[in-house]
Amino acid sequence: MSLYSEKVMDHFRNPRNVGSMENADGVGEVGNAKCGDIMKIYLKIDDDVVTDVKFETFGCGSAIASSSMATEMIKGKPLDEILTVTNKAVTEALDGLPAHKLHCSVLAEEAIRAAVKDYYDKNGVAYDAAQFSASCAACHA
Ligand code: FES
Repeated sequence: MSLYSEKVMDHFRNPRNVGSMENADGVGEVGNAKCGDIMKIYLKIDDDVVTDVKFETFGCGSAIASSSMATEMIKGKPLDEILTVTNKAVTEALDGLPAHKLHCSVLAEEAIRAAVKDYYDKNGVAYDAAQFSASCAACHA
């Protein structure tokens, strides 16, 4: 069995939603403390629904595949729903990642949260700050 699932290889070779976005409603940029890789997510939001999403990832193949899958999972979804997308859900949708690559999927979750927070901040939307605290105890210990 190969180290990476077919889905990981597919999203790595043909990443969906790559690029930047002008006039994005929310932008989230996060870095991975473990490896220094960076991910940026752009959201277009109408009536609290993500109508378009783009990402730029300067990172490893697992981070690119995770970003690609995550963007597919949040497109067309309401904000309260996308805030529940965890790195675990992204990893499962990719049919798994090797244990030493799980931290790469955390970038996608964090970038999405940062982009939603940016949108809330720009639009004066009240929110519970706890919603945006780190959710991956293993990665933020
Ligand atoms: Fe840096 Fe995967 S090794 S995100």
